[in-house]
Amino acid sequence: MDHFLYRDGELYAEEVAIAEIAAEVGTPFYCYSAATLERHYRLFDEALEGTDHLVCYAIKAASNLAILKLLGDMGAGMDVVSGGEYARARAAGVPGERIVFSGVGKTADEMRMALEGGIRQFNVESEPEMLALNAVALELGVRAPITVRVNPDVDAKTHAKIATGKSENKFGIPISKARAVYAEAAGLPGLEVVGIDVHIGSQLTDLAPFREAYEKVALLTEELREDGHDIRRLDLGGGLGIPYTNSNETPPLPRDYGAMIKETLGHLNCEIEIEPGRLVAGNAGIMVSGVIYVKEGDGRDFLILDAAMNDLVRPAMYDAHHDIVPVKEAEPGVEPARYDIVGPVCETGDTFARERDMSVIQAGDLVAFRSAGAYGAVMASEYNSRPLIPEVLVRGDQFAVIRRRPSLEDMLNRDSIPEWL
Ligand code: LLP
Repeated sequence: MDHFLYRDGELYAEEVAIAEIAAEVGTPFYCYSAATLERHYRLFDEALEGTDHLVCYAIKAASNLAILKLLGDMGAGMDVVSGGEYARARAAGVPGERIVFSGVGKTADEMRMALEGGIRQFNVESEPEMLALNAVALELGVRAPITVRVNPDVDAKTHAKIATGKSENKFGIPISKARAVYAEAAGLPGLEVVGIDVHIGSQLTDLAPFREAYEKVALLTEELREDGHDIRRLDLGGGLGIPYTNSNETPPLPRDYGAMIKETLGHLNCEIEIEPGRLVAGNAGIMVSGVIYVKEGDGRDFLILDAAMNDLVRPAMYDAHHDIVPVKEAEPGVEPARYDIVGPVCETGDTFARERDMSVIQAGDLVAFRSAGAYGAVMASEYNSRPLIPEVLVRGDQFAVIRRRPSLEDMLNRDSIPEWL
C-alpha cells in the first residue's frame, strides 16, 4: 500500500498534486511519500516485535539524506556498503552503533573511516578481508566487531543479476567452510566475533528460500557455539520482494516474514538484524516524466518521454516492469491506446515498456512510473550528458526538493581541460 492515489482525476502524492510539483520543479523527477516510507519501516519493526531486533535499512535502495534522516529518526539502523554510504548515514544523524557495514570489497580506508567514526559491526565476506580488517583495527588499537557472511547455497529464485546466495555468486564464504573461518577469526586479536550474516538475494517473492537459508544459519549457530564462539547476533540480510504490478503479484508480507524468522531462529535467543531496502523505499517513490512527443511508427505508436534509461535503468538492466500511469486519470469507458514507451537516449535499450495499454496520451501530458523509489535515483547516471534528475519528498500537504536538479553548468564544471591541451 502506498500514498500515491487519484483524487478528482489527478494523481496525488499524499495531499500534494503531482502536477503542482511538476509545475514547480520541472520534469522528470523522483517523488517520495514520507508516510509510505514510515509505514514500511514500521511493518518490519512490528514484524519482529517481541524479539530483540534492529531494522537496518539498506541505504543502497534510496540514499537521499532526507530519507535517511526520516528513517533514522524513527530508530532505524542502516546497512551501508561503501565509505560514501557510511558518510551519508552519519550525515543523516544515525549513530555508528546502528550502522552495519556490508560488501565484498571494503578497502582499508573504508574500514578506518568506520572504526574511527563508530560502527555496530562489519559483515566480513572473505578471509583476506578478515585479515585486512584485523590489521586496520590493530593499527587503531581497537577491536572490530564482526559477523562472517555465509553463503548458504540456496536458490533465491529471483533475477540472476540480483541472486547472491548460490555458491557460484561472489558473496560470502561457503557455509561449509564457516567453522574453519570462525576459528581463524577467533585467533585474530583485532577482531571480535559477534554473530553470523546471510543475504541471499533481492526481490524474493516466496519465503521458502529464506526459510532454507535461515534453517542453515540456525544449525551453524549451534555448531559455532559448540566451538566456543559467542554468537549473539544474526544479520539476516534484506531481499523481501514488492508487488510491481497492481494485478496478481502477492509477495509475502513482512508480518509473515517476521513470524518465519521467529519460528526458525527464535529459540537461539540472538539479537536479530534485517536489512530491507526495496520494501521500505520501492513503493514509496515514483518517477514523474513528461511526454515530449507521440510518434506514430509502423504498426506501433511511441510515447517519447523526457525521462530515459539513465534516470531509471531497471527496465534496461533487468527487464524490470514498472507500471506507468497517467497523472491525469483515464476517463472511464474510453478505449485505451497501446504504446511503446521510450526515452530520448540513443539506444534501443532505452525502452521502458513495449505494447503497453494505457489511456490516450498527448504531448505535454505527465506520466508516473510506480514502484520507482528503490534502485531508481541511486542507479541514475548522466549518460548522454543528461543531468541527474531532482528528488522531492512529500509529507502531508508539504513538499520539498531534497536533491536539486544540477544546471548544465554544474555538470560541465566538473570536467577540466589540462593547460597543456
Ligand atoms: N543487504 C545486502 C547485503 C544487499 O546486498 C542488499 C541488496 C540488501 C541488503 C537489500 O536488499 P533488498 O531488501 O533491497 O532486496 N539494483 C537491483 C537490486 C540490487 C540489490 C542488491 N543488494 C534492482 O534494481 O532490482
